[in-house]
Amino acid sequence: MNTKIYTIGSLEQDTDKLAEAGQILRDGGLVVFPTETVYGLGGNATDAEAAKKIYAAKGRPSDNPLIIHIAEPRDAEAYAETSALYYRLAAAFMPGPLTLILPKKETIPHSVTGGLDSVAVRCPAHPIAHALIAAAGVPIAAPSANLSGKPSPTCAAHVIDDLTGRVDMILDGGDCEIGLESTILKIDCDVPVLLRPGGITYEQLCAVCGHVEIASAVIGQLAPGERPLSPGMMYRHYAPATPLILVRGERAAVTAYLRERQAEGCGVLCYAEEADVLLPERRIILGHRDDPAEQAQHLFTALRDADAFGAPTIFAHYPDEHGMGLALCNRMIRAAAHTVVEV
Ligand code: TXA
Ligand code: MG
Repeated sequence: MNTKIYTIGSLEQDTDKLAEAGQILRDGGLVVFPTETVYGLGGNATDAEAAKKIYAAKGRPSDNPLIIHIAEPRDAEAYAETSALYYRLAAAFMPGPLTLILPKKETIPHSVTGGLDSVAVRCPAHPIAHALIAAAGVPIAAPSANLSGKPSPTCAAHVIDDLTGRVDMILDGGDCEIGLESTILKIDCDVPVLLRPGGITYEQLCAVCGHVEIASAVIGQLAPGERPLSPGMMYRHYAPATPLILVRGERAAVTAYLRERQAEGCGVLCYAEEADVLLPERRIILGHRDDPAEQAQHLFTALRDADAFGAPTIFAHYPDEHGMGLALCNRMIRAAAHTVVEV
């Protein structure tokens, strides 16, 4: 398949490119587009065949459901059973990095929801994503635009590496601002359940919902045979090819441990504050120690780049679990396949 790659500079000047992308989606094709979280691999959410193409392009198991991207919170009415809580959360956080799980309506084929009777709905804030949904005139089903098993793409270069020849069009809108996928909250049940932490934090959700449960798979490891609430949590995810190990302990001890591993030929993901104590080679600075949002923005690029060291192992800090740190922790602990050393 020939993949067209368009850079979108300004929405006003690039209306023709967006109209062409919208037409591809209406015709059942696939378009990769930027969002404020990560790039999405989009197809028409009301078209069962488009969903099959998405799974094939990603190499993803088809029982892992897709998120439906809509322009406005009220557009969910056509596809899902909404509720007062849905509109409270929408007023607080949409458009933005929040996905809500609701009971689905017949308009969304089961092939999009992996056979589930619920559907994930998200209203992205990115202007290009918003313009593309408008140009398509249909809701867009989109998983992250990486090959299954690779970290989610946070810039067009990642997408071009993974999906050239597998999709009809890639819209390059530059770097994603948040860098981790949206927060997913299940609200088709009595107590809302946080399935995946992201740019909207647990603390922010509690302020609107009152009590929120955190699914055990967010940080914990699933017991053998246990089925997670979100099918995506079953799969090995966000994984660099090089094994990643997280290091937890007192600040100076962790820095010293990273320095020793580096001297042995391993790679490290570190904080800006300790960078000059470490060797300049095989070192990627994630961001400042107390700025998890900055670290989140760089994490997936760092995981991809770390593979280029050709090191036997990569070591990184175990993040603080509060605020945006919970999202970082969730991605890093899964990338590390739960391997943590205490120093
Ligand atoms: O930020 C994001 O959410 C990005 C951008 C493109 O919007 N999308 C994204 O999609 O991360 P994906 O497919 O990579 O992750 C969606 C997750 C999967 O783990 C899937 O299992 C879960 O959402 N999910 C989707 N529908 C669900 C449902 N009905 N019930 C439970 N989990 C669901
Ligand atoms: Mg994904």
